[in-house]
Amino acid sequence: MADPRPPHDPSAPPSTGKPKAWGGVFEQATDARVEAFSESVSFDKRLADDDIDGSIAHSAMLASCGIITAAEAEAIRAGLEEIRAEIHAGTFTYTISKEDIHLHVESALTARLGDTGRRLHTARSRNDQVATDLRLFCRRAIDRLDAGLAALQRAFLGFAEREADLIIPGYTHLRRAQPVLAAHQLLAWCEKLGRDRDRLADCRKRTNILPLGSGALAGTSLPIDREHVRAGLDFAAVAANSLDAASDRDFACELAFVISLAGIHLSQWAEEWIIWSTEEFGFLKLPENFCTGSSIMPQKINPDVLELVRGKSARTIGNLQSLLVLLKGLPTAYNRDLQEDKEPLFDSIDTLEAILGVAAPLVAGTSFDRARIGATLDRGHLDATSLMEALIASGTPQRTAHETVGKLVRRAMRKGVSLEELADEEFSADCAGWNGALRSALGASRAVGRMASFGSTAPARVADQIKVWQQRLGASGA
Ligand code: ARG
Repeated sequence: MADPRPPHDPSAPPSTGKPKAWGGVFEQATDARVEAFSESVSFDKRLADDDIDGSIAHSAMLASCGIITAAEAEAIRAGLEEIRAEIHAGTFTYTISKEDIHLHVESALTARLGDTGRRLHTARSRNDQVATDLRLFCRRAIDRLDAGLAALQRAFLGFAEREADLIIPGYTHLRRAQPVLAAHQLLAWCEKLGRDRDRLADCRKRTNILPLGSGALAGTSLPIDREHVRAGLDFAAVAANSLDAASDRDFACELAFVISLAGIHLSQWAEEWIIWSTEEFGFLKLPENFCTGSSIMPQKINPDVLELVRGKSARTIGNLQSLLVLLKGLPTAYNRDLQEDKEPLFDSIDTLEAILGVAAPLVAGTSFDRARIGATLDRGHLDATSLMEALIASGTPQRTAHETVGKLVRRAMRKGVSLEELADEEFSADCAGWNGALRSALGASRAVGRMASFGSTAPARVADQIKVWQQRLGASGA
């Protein structure tokens, strides 16, 4: 059916005709299409709390510097708290004619306080204001994300504690490689998430800098005290260059990157567990309340939560890309393009929080199928490297030992048996220095038991690492 709408509607919708905070110089009311096109309040209303916190600190500073009176600052503070309460209660009205959250809060204040409200924007621009709000928002988000990542680490640690003695096949190229402790593999996620948390902490340092006081781009001639605002908002330092500070979004890119790398880690984890929980692998039993069914195939119990962890991480990568491309063409100081930084950044934060919200309980509810794992553990010659290292330890050059064990594996493959099942004569046929003591290198659990190096899957090393993580994380999620 043809689209009933005309391809292009030439008639301009009426302007809302509402006066603008910046409207003094204008003779024409803003076109309604421009109001709809340029508004940001539909998404930047999420900055309301940070905007109000910033304005309270700013007005307190204005009073301490004698730019407004103490009574005015107090009236502004009380008015802003009332506005905050209205916003939290859902009774605050938004309209696109007021563009963004900053103008909404300010105009609601002016509606209450008249001229006192009209003093709030003294020595401030929306350019340094939005940069401040966004940093406050990111700082809070970083702290929540860190707590979420820590909770997931605790869940992995708890799982590692529960399965401390379980040996599973380790894989490279998704082919059986060497046996490892399940706990070792689970702690690998603690390491990756630990680096994500380190990166968050590092990003927090560069986020925690105060831009307010930079004005539109050049600072202000008014006698402000930026240190006062810094202390009030608990920033670590005051930004040193107003041109840079009003337009710097490095912190937003960094946060989006840290989130996307965490998203990639979580996607890798999800992929691994999807594979491990297939009928074909049968290693993991996922909690049924974290699986979903099929509307046509009655027997299906699908790992949709893990698939969505993997799927949702894609948007965090896209969001990072959007931010980088947004910034690459901008000349110095504020450009309205910067308004477009919020949606990708918010989406990345929301996405990672959503993933973390389901990941930790999913890990806590998952168990290994020890019987299935044990039944096939001796397939795939997981002990071949162990035997090679035993030969090396008894003096054989590595390349010779490698070739010898390769031949033994081929012999076992032809017979359809494990290395352990070969007879001594068969070993001797390929291995000049064969002696029965070398059998102590065979079998998955003996191979794991012989491991020694720091960072390896040696049971004592893994037990040490469990203790290290217990100390780092406090209680586990066990
Ligand atoms: N809504 C704007 C943003 O998010 C606020 C700053 C607007 N500044 C300006 N000069 N138009 O970037």
